[in-house]
Amino acid sequence: MTKRVEIAYLLKNDVKALLGTTITVKGWVRTKRGNKNVAFIAINDGSIIHNIQVVADPAKFEEELRRITTGACIGVEGKLVESQGSGQAVEIQAESMVIYGEADPDSYPLQKKGHSMEFLREIGHLRLRTNTFGAVMRMRHEMAYAIHTFFHERGFFYFHTPLITASDCEGAGEMFHVSTLDPENPPRDKDGKIDWEKDFFGKFTALTVSGQLEGELGATALGKIYTFGPTFRAENSNTPRHLAEFWMIEPEMAFYDLDSLTQLEEEFIKYLVRWALDRCYDDLEFLNKMIDHGLIERLKSVVDTDFVRLPYTEGIRILEEAVANGHKFEFPVSWGVDLASEHERFLVEHHFKKPVIMVDYPKEIKAFYMKQNDDCRTVQGTDVLFPQIGEIIGGSVREENYDKLLTRINELNIPMKDMWWYLDTRRYGSCPHAGFGLGFERLMLFVTGMANIRDVIPFPRTPGNANF
Ligand code: 4AD
Ligand code: MG
Repeated sequence: MTKRVEIAYLLKNDVKALLGTTITVKGWVRTKRGNKNVAFIAINDGSIIHNIQVVADPAKFEEELRRITTGACIGVEGKLVESQGSGQAVEIQAESMVIYGEADPDSYPLQKKGHSMEFLREIGHLRLRTNTFGAVMRMRHEMAYAIHTFFHERGFFYFHTPLITASDCEGAGEMFHVSTLDPENPPRDKDGKIDWEKDFFGKFTALTVSGQLEGELGATALGKIYTFGPTFRAENSNTPRHLAEFWMIEPEMAFYDLDSLTQLEEEFIKYLVRWALDRCYDDLEFLNKMIDHGLIERLKSVVDTDFVRLPYTEGIRILEEAVANGHKFEFPVSWGVDLASEHERFLVEHHFKKPVIMVDYPKEIKAFYMKQNDDCRTVQGTDVLFPQIGEIIGGSVREENYDKLLTRINELNIPMKDMWWYLDTRRYGSCPHAGFGLGFERLMLFVTGMANIRDVIPFPRTPGNANF
């Protein structure tokens, strides 16, 4: 066969020069139809949402056409011609065919269109071959590339933080243990407790819930860093917004304050959404048509609007006023509560009708490392709240004062033996700094319009599910 050409190349470029020449395409059969006189095979190779149409003479390819069914993998060599039918600019007139792999139509599960997302999750090993998952996965790649480009263009360094750690950054205790001890018969200390000193690392270790603490070490040496890696949380939240294994992007910047932090958060998300609109248009058009008719409009509106800066205290006032005016929330609202997603969505979708960056939260509901305000009640934490999603970013200015930080660590009973190295950043050349974490899959939910976070990562891990 002649050299293989990818379908994206054929459909995205001016290929007039190739018209009339013989080329080869390879991919998976989406549909086969036709009659006694002519057969049409739609092939997709994953490089683009669209298929290329192959036109074949049933008399010449009788045997092949019998074996080719939806899902089969084939290669076709033939002449590239302008398409007779509508819907595609070019098509291929088959001259020879190879069948790499048949797909038994009696058992291949992806026969008809319009399978439910729940069913597709059960065949997670094959769902990547659907149009929807192809679109989502191509966009996932584009967004990852955009993230690296954004930071690289601004002089940030990509900084790798460990996945195995001995400290609980968020202090929530929702960590997966990492151990090589025999669970049936672990070594015990003199009190009968498991002796973690005998474990692989000589201490109790777990998978990281955030790279931030090590990220701060990077930022206080390199100035501006970002991490982009897997993150693990053993929280038993079976919601459409939570995964047990997700990817997080965590920039950390020396000499940033609350203003420069929220500015970066806004600039970052807008850059990513604009990238999606500029470079993923085929996939977005498909998702807009098949998954969420408001998608493209919503993406455009985010790029064009100024995000609201909203102090927590003011947010609570708005919510209390809504309650006084008869609005019913499931969870009560008063100063000091952690906002539920219904509250966040009320503010974003009903009240302001645009993304909200909430700032200055009560210190009791936020992590130990956030910079304390002079009022002694609030800290310089920020959550970016998005339509449909709720919290997409969490971040803060960091407490750089050694004494204040230590007092907070002691108030919260965080074991100091795990924290000495972190506190050293405040003992030696401490500097004002700030950072945030963007949940990559929350971003993917927003840019694809998909409704469930399990459907924007190739192989989701959630309570009770680690298949594939
Ligand atoms: O708000 P979080 O817990 O903040 C941190 O971990 C900080 N250390 C970040 C920092 O300042 N460097 O998590 C950050 C973001 C959330 O806003 C959310 O988008 C995402 O991570 N996230 C999850 N995404 C999917 N599944 C989960 N279980 C998630 N938990 C948090
Ligand atoms: Mg958070």
